[in-house]
Amino acid sequence: MSLQIKHLLGLKDVSREDITAILDSADHFAEVLNRDIKTVPTLRGKTVVNFFYENSTRTRISFEMAEKRLSASPLNFSTSGSSVSKGETLRDTIQNIEAMKIDMVVVRHGSAGVPKFLTECTDATIINAGDGYHEHPTQALLDMMTIRQRLGKLEGLKVAIVGDILHSRVARSNAWGMKTMGMDVTLCAPTTLLPQHTESLGVKVTTKLNDAISDADVVMLLRPQLERQTHGLFPSVREYRTYYGIDRDKMNLMRDDALIMHPGPINRGVELESEVADCERSVILDQVTNGVATRMAVLYLLGGGEQ
Ligand code: CP
Repeated sequence: MSLQIKHLLGLKDVSREDITAILDSADHFAEVLNRDIKTVPTLRGKTVVNFFYENSTRTRISFEMAEKRLSASPLNFSTSGSSVSKGETLRDTIQNIEAMKIDMVVVRHGSAGVPKFLTECTDATIINAGDGYHEHPTQALLDMMTIRQRLGKLEGLKVAIVGDILHSRVARSNAWGMKTMGMDVTLCAPTTLLPQHTESLGVKVTTKLNDAISDADVVMLLRPQLERQTHGLFPSVREYRTYYGIDRDKMNLMRDDALIMHPGPINRGVELESEVADCERSVILDQVTNGVATRMAVLYLLGGGEQ
């Protein structure tokens, strides 16, 4: 059985069956990645363009690694050094690249909706690697893979997502995906960093850190995205850290077995102290490891592979 979706634009409209299929396939690829020979011939002959209009470390490298592990041919596009600097439009840019015969596009862009726009001007399969404040679906999938790997299930688990929810595509994708998988999600931030109309996400919302974290199975921290904030949304970094940053004392308010997660990049000493980021309950580097297997699963299943 292949996926019901043709493109991966976000998790809002992805079914529980499709998310489960991706997570099961990612578990299989994680096992492949533990072998001596980590490459499989699955996507041999397919060309995947990594179309990045925004900076990235984890997402970009793990997509490229996933493509190489599946024997696809990756092509990397970035705006610096391209004809975007001469004023070429997004539509012209993608249509010129498509004219060279490509199969899939992995796109990151600062504007919400760009992945959807690309589906309207190319025939290639589109995978969203983060669009503005909108969604970052492969991050949420690798987060759920990591939780399922550690805790053995998703259904019924309590997750607290703490930080700059307003600007976070990671929070949005996780809220949609985790709700679909039957998880109990609480978003926690100062009022100025919470979006309006959170009721449409179907999650709980609080401004009180203790209410969010005290009985959570998973606590996911998000950095304040200062590059997306047009004016001061909290009085100072020091005040943010005092109320929402997790240090050893605040970690002691959590359950002893709660997992600590972060999508990266971490602002050490702001949302997370190093002693917490690097402690035995942190699965932050597991998330990065699982990013390759998750992206292999998405590329494989959208590239025509069967479960
Ligand atoms: N988590 C994440 O998207 O990291 P990058 O911005 O480094 O890709």
